[in-house]
Amino acid sequence: MIDDVAQKLANIKTKAVAEFFSLQNDAEIEKWRVKYLGRKGALSALFEEIGKFRTEERQYLGKAANELKKELEEKLRAASDRTKSHGKGEESFDETAPGIPVPRGTKHPLTQFTDRICAVFTSMGFEIVEDREVEKVEYNFDKLNMPDNHPARDMWDTFYIKSQIPPANGMFHEVVLRTHTSPVQLRAMETRKPPVRLVVPGRCYRHDATDASHETGFYQLEGLVIDKGVSVANMIYVLDSVLKRLFGNFVKIRIRPSFFPFVEPGHEIDMSCMICEQKGCSVCSKTGWLEMMGSGMVHPVVLNNMGVDSELYTGFAFGMGIDRLMMLYYGVDDIRLSYSGDLRFLKQF
Ligand code: DAH
Repeated sequence: MIDDVAQKLANIKTKAVAEFFSLQNDAEIEKWRVKYLGRKGALSALFEEIGKFRTEERQYLGKAANELKKELEEKLRAASDRTKSHGKGEESFDETAPGIPVPRGTKHPLTQFTDRICAVFTSMGFEIVEDREVEKVEYNFDKLNMPDNHPARDMWDTFYIKSQIPPANGMFHEVVLRTHTSPVQLRAMETRKPPVRLVVPGRCYRHDATDASHETGFYQLEGLVIDKGVSVANMIYVLDSVLKRLFGNFVKIRIRPSFFPFVEPGHEIDMSCMICEQKGCSVCSKTGWLEMMGSGMVHPVVLNNMGVDSELYTGFAFGMGIDRLMMLYYGVDDIRLSYSGDLRFLKQF
């Protein structure tokens, strides 16, 4: 049967190659040669069997057997070169032979872009701080000046983790997947005293319907600066410099009033669209401006919750969506690609 011979051929190949790797010296190499390539070796026997087939089958099997013979002969040559180059024929390791390449991955575009932003901030004297993703409601909302039932909590609808043991106040739902990196402002200030300059990159979660610009998990970068005499002017200078360093010197920023419970006044920072240079395109919805981040002067209530004397110190804070900035930077048009694990996407970075 043709299949039997093909199977035998495959078996010889597997065994010969496996044994080849363990050959240590000339004697072993010779034994291996006789066993597979010798006059009474495995391949000769196979050729004899192949000779009994019809022409077409013989041609097919003969070709495969000849290829294997060539391969084994090449191995034999390599093995004797190997031992010869070592002189004694005892050692059979060729340290000059090229190794098996180990495929290298690359950093995810989000990680690469986070590194870029962090490098800009560290060059300006900021510290990088990270903290937990599963956060107490107290830090995610209450201490950020959003007491229970505050309507602003609706802006950050999230995943509540129900504790198994009823807490003392009888309320479940005291732990959430953090909706923003802002709670880390409070966490960081538990172990620090002003002056501080810090940024917090990290993953956040929201109960959002998924589309090209929304995901239930995404990345933010929070910033916090507290010192004596810090003003909105300082904030504008820092954020303008950062955006220029990230996107180019030609970009401009625009500040609009906005509301966030943890700042007063609160702002929304826009950047001139660097794609159309304000001529109007689909990315900026023909407005010439792109929303980049929320910001503001840290609310005195929040400063007090941090144990910072709000009479003595002032500060500014900001929060940007890393995904959106990364997408603008690289020209990615769907946030879901980032989390798809699709190598066709990832290999481009
Ligand atoms: N935490 C806000 C959000 O997730 C972003 C933000 C706005 C952060 C203003 C701030 C800030 O620190 O001052 O939408």
